[in-house]
Amino acid sequence: MTLQIRSLNQYKEVYKQSVEHPEKFWDEQAETFFWRKPYSKTLEWEFDTPSVQWFIDGKLNITENCLDRHIEDRGDQVAILWEANEPDEDSITYTYTELLAKVCQTANALKEMGIGKGDRVIFYMPMVPELAIGLLACARIGAVHSVVFAGFSAQALADRVDDAQAKAIICSDYSRRGTKMIPVKDVVDEAMNISCNSVEHVLVHKNTTQEVNWSDDVDSWWHEQVDCQEQTCPAEEMDSEDMLFILYTSGSTGKPKGVVHTCGGYMVYTCFSFRNVFQYQDGDVYWCTADIGWITGHSYIVYGPLLAGATTMMYEGVPNYPTPSRFWEICQKHKVNQFYTAPTAIRALMACGNEWIDDREMPSLKVLGSVGEPINEEAWHWYDEKVGRGKAPIVDTWWQTETGGILLTPLPGITDTKPTYASYPMPGVQPVLVNNEGELIEENNAEGLLCIKFPWPSMIRTTYGDHERCKNVYFSSFKGMYFTGDGARRDEDGRIRVIGRVDDVINVSGHRMGTAEVENAINEHPGVIESAVVGYPHDIKGQGIYAYVICQDVLDAKTMQDEICATVRKEIGPIAKPDVIQFVSGLPKTRSGKIMRRILRKIACKDEKSLGDISTLLNPDVVQEIIDTRK
Ligand code: PRX
Repeated sequence: MTLQIRSLNQYKEVYKQSVEHPEKFWDEQAETFFWRKPYSKTLEWEFDTPSVQWFIDGKLNITENCLDRHIEDRGDQVAILWEANEPDEDSITYTYTELLAKVCQTANALKEMGIGKGDRVIFYMPMVPELAIGLLACARIGAVHSVVFAGFSAQALADRVDDAQAKAIICSDYSRRGTKMIPVKDVVDEAMNISCNSVEHVLVHKNTTQEVNWSDDVDSWWHEQVDCQEQTCPAEEMDSEDMLFILYTSGSTGKPKGVVHTCGGYMVYTCFSFRNVFQYQDGDVYWCTADIGWITGHSYIVYGPLLAGATTMMYEGVPNYPTPSRFWEICQKHKVNQFYTAPTAIRALMACGNEWIDDREMPSLKVLGSVGEPINEEAWHWYDEKVGRGKAPIVDTWWQTETGGILLTPLPGITDTKPTYASYPMPGVQPVLVNNEGELIEENNAEGLLCIKFPWPSMIRTTYGDHERCKNVYFSSFKGMYFTGDGARRDEDGRIRVIGRVDDVINVSGHRMGTAEVENAINEHPGVIESAVVGYPHDIKGQGIYAYVICQDVLDAKTMQDEICATVRKEIGPIAKPDVIQFVSGLPKTRSGKIMRRILRKIACKDEKSLGDISTLLNPDVVQEIIDTRK
């Protein structure tokens, strides 16, 4: 089994070793996996191109490590435990033996549909076991999965399908989220009408009894294709650096980019980090509430836990259905030991009042995790006191779609915890702070830009179809370093606190969004001339979306706001809907015509006292007008 660090001294020793002899350290971690053919070299890298290769020439299949490898020792142990949207519906379990059989059946069905190694398959599904099974089925045959969060619009789905040139889409008929029934297949149909010319098959999982529109040319039912298949399927031999999946994420410019992760390094790192960050022990029940549409679900619902032979829970619904006690009921029902969620969920439940949690003792909880955005001090303490009753350490885990796994985190019961601090680097991870000129900030008690100066196995390899973009976004700001896009503070003892993005990316309820992307969507409305979007502090969401919009003429502000919101929903999805829309006659610009977002951000944050000198703007008068008409 992969190393599990159990004491502070051991952490310090292992960390030192991992920095002084990284290849030796990762060799020891990689040893515990099943390789079809051993790798010939541990690492080759340079960050200029960039080119990063781990476990070179090694051959493996990640599903043999997630599934086959466990059958002898834990074939009858529950691998996936699924909890339905409706509390009175029975939970579903798949043991490792059952899961392997289902994955093989699904893999055989995909093969029969003509899908093979290297083909891209898009998933657009709710949180049902078939989603995890589908991903593993792709990995079994070497197809590349790309999950699109099922809250994105038809247009956003079509953009991703086209970028990936996907051969198939796998979806559900409907998705159930609390009281809502969302017509998932309809969205896929709409996307297929927009474009998606590469798609030959749409495989539909039946999740409800609702009717759906059907096109015999492309549509087929999951149960009809899968259930008749053989329960064994040989695993495709993959190179360490073959693509495992693409996951689209937002940046400060342009359309979302497809972050590419590869087989070998991702396998080694997600397993290692899962075992250590959550201190998972045999018999534990682990629950991560993320959606598999995001990287957290990939690494810490599916791959990490299954690689480590854990019991991983999936929940179909939302935190507050039927009541704000639902999370705690589920923790009690399944005696959850490790619970991993996002600050926005904690804040939302905290706002519902303590009566929903006060009589919900959850003595099984050993570790509480937080991910996706900075956790504010109040939420941290509520999580600690109300959920963990002071007995379950909080791991505030910092990482990104691009990092593939958790890079900064306390280790529960091993390193100390400090509210709002993601604290210390994982073994093998070498974070640094730099100033705007790229000079290293060596001292503690300082703030700077967070970079990583040495590769780790699960790092981004490229952005799909556009390597130049990968280089420009992550490796060009500071020579020889991966730039995270985050600003951070290091305290007097070396703990790191990630403050937030320093680029034009905002984090709304833990959903990452590019302001340019939202602006482009707003500008699609025919009445809009120009817009500028910034983030502002929001009590529950962390950040809200504030849009300044110039229109031709606004007859009725409310109607126009509704129409703009509808346009954004159509272009991206409901998660990108602006919280505030302010109509303005102009936007503050530099003499070269660049929008001064810094000023707009301050106005949205009601911080106009620190605007500084605005006299050099092209149109300084507009600033006062915007302040006067602020929402
Ligand atoms: O700004 C950081 C924030 O989320 C960004 C990454 O978003 P995404 O790729 O969607 O991945 C989220 C789940 C891993 C980061 O650049 N972020 C993530 N975790 C934290 C965080 N900010 C502060 N503290 C965290 N623990």
